[in-house]
Amino acid sequence: MRILVVGGGGREHAIAWSLSRSRRPINLFIAPGNSGTASLGTNLAISVEDLPGILDFVRADEIELVIVGPEIPLVNGLADRLRAINVPVVGPSADAARLEGSKAFAKAFMARHGIPTASHRTFGSGQLDEALAFVSAEGAPIVVKASGLAAGKGAIVCATETEAIEAVTALLESGVLGQAGSEIVIENFLEGEEASLFALTDGTHYVLLSSAQDHKRIGEGDTGPNTGGMGAYAPAPVMTDELTSLVRTTIIEPTLEGMAAEGHPYSGVLYVGLMICADGPKVVEYNCRLGDPETQVVMPLLGSDAVDLFYRVANSELAGYDVSLLEGSAACVVMASSGYPGAYEKGKSITGIDAASASRDLVVFHAGVTGTDEASYATAGGRVLAVTALGNDLLEAVDRAYEGVRCIFFEGSYYRRDIGRKGLSRN
Ligand code: AMP
Ligand code: GLY
Repeated sequence: MRILVVGGGGREHAIAWSLSRSRRPINLFIAPGNSGTASLGTNLAISVEDLPGILDFVRADEIELVIVGPEIPLVNGLADRLRAINVPVVGPSADAARLEGSKAFAKAFMARHGIPTASHRTFGSGQLDEALAFVSAEGAPIVVKASGLAAGKGAIVCATETEAIEAVTALLESGVLGQAGSEIVIENFLEGEEASLFALTDGTHYVLLSSAQDHKRIGEGDTGPNTGGMGAYAPAPVMTDELTSLVRTTIIEPTLEGMAAEGHPYSGVLYVGLMICADGPKVVEYNCRLGDPETQVVMPLLGSDAVDLFYRVANSELAGYDVSLLEGSAACVVMASSGYPGAYEKGKSITGIDAASASRDLVVFHAGVTGTDEASYATAGGRVLAVTALGNDLLEAVDRAYEGVRCIFFEGSYYRRDIGRKGLSRN
């Protein structure tokens, strides 16, 4: 089968890696891919935002399955355009991808369908005074969010009213996030532990991958600014079977049914970011794609054949399908460039990826890396590598991941030393 993966980060390396372990013969292409995917298939010099370029390649090279990693091409309608030429795709339509692309849409949708989430109000660019009045009436802590896509920078958790006033003003008046922040959502602060669930759905049926927990903040103990994610583990001990059943019936199923009822059946990956509150699980956000770095722990725990699973999702063949998940745990530690998530230097040579990868049950997923081999690998991004290990339990997975990290060197490398600690404290 000729398969195209769209994207070039650690997530897409992990997707390509799981496809490459399939029993089915495949011919794999990755647009644009990275130094890690180069050994699994053919990287294409096509950007994820170049929709015509992607479509031309798919047509010319008779691609039979497309898996879209990042949200931007989905929000821009890539899946619609592929379906229009009868190419099976894993990813929702642009209308359905509004669950991620517009927080104002997602919040109003949840309100319409009684899906548990923080209570909220939406304000447009002409409503600065109303938004500020709402903040003073509600008090802090409070959360201010840009409605549009903001690459993880759109949610500002405000501990004080002053911070909230600054955030509202920065978005609505100064326009710091441009169009993405021209409409904002202000919502109440949810207290609890976060976890993520990933449903793969063909619009009618769905299967759940392993639950996972991300580490969004740069600093140990969940301190400092938000990042794309500094590490993850799966499954998340906080997501008991009982809680997962509750999320299925109160969140995932009403979401899929609600989208279908509104005329936008949701097909692809539905990523539900949850807060496990004292009064039950609530939606913090929806994403229309797999998480990064959660994919790096969720895919290695997939027991089913990944090609078979994605093919069924894209071709509405999930009825009667049972997904198999492996026993044990996976943990991943992200190694980042010094300075990330702020400014950082590139071009630092990286050694030890081969040595780390030699160990059993460990995979190094590339993200911001250039080069073709151990002699030429160099840093090229904020998040450089995700070192992922499997173990019989979370402790073993975390220990093995850190053993891998200790093999790898580049100048100024930074990683959190507490990945998995929250999960371990529950065990
Ligand atoms: P979002 O972009 O909506 O996923 O938000 C990014 C992060 O901000 C989340 O992962 C949470 O850590 C935090 N956050 C967002 N909304 C809330 C909320 N209502 N209460 C508490 N924390 C939140
Ligand atoms: N790791 C968070 C995300 O992918 O949105």
